[in-house]
Amino acid sequence: MKLLEKIIYADVLMMVMVIWVVPMCYGHGDQTGSDWNDARATFYGDINGGETQQGACGYGDLNKQGYGLETAALSTALFNNGSTCGACYEIKCVNSPQWCLPGIIRITATNFCPPNYDKTTDVWCNPPQKHFDLSQPMFLKIAKYKSGVVPVKYRRVPCVKTGGVKFETKGNPHFLMVLPYNVGGAGDVRAVQVKGTKTAWIPMKKNWGQNWNTGVVLTGQCLSFRLTLSDGITKDFINVTTPSWSCGQTFDGRINF
Ligand SMILES: *[C@@H]1O[C@H](CO)[C@@H](O)[C@H](O)[C@H]1NC(C)=O
Ligand SMILES: *[C@@H]1O[C@H](CO)[C@@H](O)[C@H](O)[C@H]1NC(C)=O
Repeated sequence: MKLLEKIIYADVLMMVMVIWVVPMCYGHGDQTGSDWNDARATFYGDINGGETQQGACGYGDLNKQGYGLETAALSTALFNNGSTCGACYEIKCVNSPQWCLPGIIRITATNFCPPNYDKTTDVWCNPPQKHFDLSQPMFLKIAKYKSGVVPVKYRRVPCVKTGGVKFETKGNPHFLMVLPYNVGGAGDVRAVQVKGTKTAWIPMKKNWGQNWNTGVVLTGQCLSFRLTLSDGITKDFINVTTPSWSCGQTFDGRINF
């Protein structure tokens, strides 16, 4: 080969390698880069998701709030005192050819599977065990009903939500409590601030689940919210409420993560 041919040949080879190697690097694993971990899964509630509504994360009607039946209650080890409420996971049944069905489900953490220290067998949700108590319809997508409990692999994935983050006002005018839901991206909110038209940003305190509160009276002011998710990403939701907001209303943050 002449020198020029060699250079062209090397260039083409490099390009082929780049085209081939780049997808290799990004093509495996998920967008959050987390690996598959071991856990177990059972189900709770009926085929219509009965018993899965409300729950320890503070969400309400899961159908209205966009979570539907694609939800799970997490054991103590995964629930992290409510910090992981709103996080999304992919789950697949493994190592149980008799009971596993092929396929991967995607769920949002919306509830807590409490430990039971009175029992010594079938106590899947006791620490330090990692366990997903799935809605029945989701469990039936990865395993046969009769299995009851199956080994699974799981990993965190970004939450894909439709429309803006929603803010539900609860509590009372002197004790504003806000539930952010339909949160995309990492999904689990780690810090909330609120700002009235006449105030600076005020940090809110986590009350329980994903309910956040402040004792600062903000009636008559248009409210903005600042959310920080577990991956550190922060977004501002400006002028979300009307000045005449009251408790028991839901407002559209218009944007999402
Ligand atoms: C769980 O969260 C609540 C509310 O933030 C807090 O009061 C409580 O101390 C936390 N419990 C643990 C074990 O971290
Ligand atoms: C939010 O509302 C306040 C008060 O009405 C207004 O001054 C401000 O420009 C608004 N901000 C945005 C981004 O719309």
